[in-house]
Amino acid sequence: MKINNICCIGAGYVGGPTMSIIAQKNPDIKVNVVDMNADKISAWNSKDLDNLPVYEPGLSKVVKEARGRNLFFSDDVNKHIYDAEMIFISVNTPTKISGEGKGYAADLKYVEACAKQIAEVSKTDKIIVEKSTVPVRTSEKIKQILRLNNSDVDFQILSNPEFLAEGTAMRDLEIPDRVLIGGDKTKQGKKAIESLVKIYSSWVPKENILTTNLWSSELSKLTANAFLAQRISSINSLSELCEETGADIEEVSKAIGMDSRIGSSFLKTSVGFGGSCFQKDILNLVYIARSSGLVKVADYWEQILLINKHQRDRFSNKIVECVKNNDLHQNILLLGWAFKKDTNDSRESAAIYVANNLLNNKIRIDIYDPKVNKDQVDFDLSYLNENYDKSMVKFIEDPVSNIFNYNLIAIMTEWDEFKEYDWQYIYSKIKKPAYIFDGRNILNFEKIKKIGFNYIGIGRK
Ligand code: NAD
Ligand code: UGA
Repeated sequence: MKINNICCIGAGYVGGPTMSIIAQKNPDIKVNVVDMNADKISAWNSKDLDNLPVYEPGLSKVVKEARGRNLFFSDDVNKHIYDAEMIFISVNTPTKISGEGKGYAADLKYVEACAKQIAEVSKTDKIIVEKSTVPVRTSEKIKQILRLNNSDVDFQILSNPEFLAEGTAMRDLEIPDRVLIGGDKTKQGKKAIESLVKIYSSWVPKENILTTNLWSSELSKLTANAFLAQRISSINSLSELCEETGADIEEVSKAIGMDSRIGSSFLKTSVGFGGSCFQKDILNLVYIARSSGLVKVADYWEQILLINKHQRDRFSNKIVECVKNNDLHQNILLLGWAFKKDTNDSRESAAIYVANNLLNNKIRIDIYDPKVNKDQVDFDLSYLNENYDKSMVKFIEDPVSNIFNYNLIAIMTEWDEFKEYDWQYIYSKIKKPAYIFDGRNILNFEKIKKIGFNYIGIGRK
């Protein structure tokens, strides 16, 4: 079946970029991205393409090309559900904060609300695509909700998890390693799969489009994230061992990664992974394993999160110690707030946890990030700690011209501009003693030490 009208519910970090690319590559398909957040929709419709709700290199160009042609953003959710032949559910699936599975299980209330709304509004047959990351067998639940609330039309359910990484989303969407589509093996199910394959094959080679059953697709997404995070925790755990033994984690990482069976990706040590997904998806995996009675499996995967927290704690504790030992309380700058470079997303960023630890130790901080604003910083810190005192944090626009105020700079995000700073000049201006805590190991530490800074990286001396 040829699809002419798509609706995507959820105009967030996945819905926005994914649908922009689908619309760009399929100019004959009308793509409506809807969201219940009217402010977000008006930002997607804004003339100012530099201030879309999602910052991704290359996104504004694609939006400029397709928006108003066959790509539309709207808060009229019902209308576009009604009109669509295929509906993507791309809403958030955070960790539950109450009820059964609290602190671990994925909260499916937004996904379930979408299914109910689709059932109530639909008058024609539709293909429903799970784009959100969900626990295995969620498609079964969606089917039930749809059938219970509407038995007049046929709904086919597909699972099409998204593998893009923020900061490189447009490239990941343009040339994906694979597109995964799970569906029923029935005649109708196969037809639905074919319709979605057709949409992707307008730019993705057929051999990169993998079709599976629904549950394999759902579980593959969760476990792919767990594998990626597992590599980061592995290298981060070794960084501590390097600090004890005098080995250098950058050298160890390179040596390990050159083994073609291991590969070099995702072996970059850091102050800990952040982002909205790794933690919640692993918690969810742990919950699924534990509720299936697989205690050892659950414990194995949970360890990844324990190491991640440990890495953040030991990095921030080192800063606290340095501040206290040298009485540097007023003069601390955190460079970077986003959970990685090239995104304005700060969800679960390691910077939030490090800052919170400093604040709990009564250390005032200044913060700079090229894409995250002060309101977001306040939101993140007050969300983590209800006693957050705004007056302890100053958000600054231009770190370099203020640099003489500081004794200690901690690099939290690997933004390219931090590498390009004139550190020699900064050293000439900055208060002494001058410490750099490099949470991403992005600076040439030998050079930085030679300039005169006290340099503290991760897993190297
Ligand atoms: P997001 O929070 O950026 O966006 C979700 C949007 O859905 C929000 O704008 C919210 O207002 C909207 N929404 C929620 N319920 C709604 C409803 N009933 N009707 C209309 N709109 C509704 O989330 P995201 O980062 O885009 O993630 C979405 C899903 O994709 C999650 O399951 C996530 O795990 C998964 N995922 C995210 C990424 C990523 O890089 N962020 C990558 C792959 C997969
Ligand atoms: C991750 C996955 O890479 C995507 O495939 C997946 O679609 C997505 O989660 C999701 O489901 O949300 P994302 O979190 O956007 O993407 O970004 P990553 O590049 O994976 O980085 C995650 C965190 O790990 C960042 O804080 C990053 O700095 C850190 N990281 C990454 C390291 O510390 N070391 C590395 O070697 C790689």
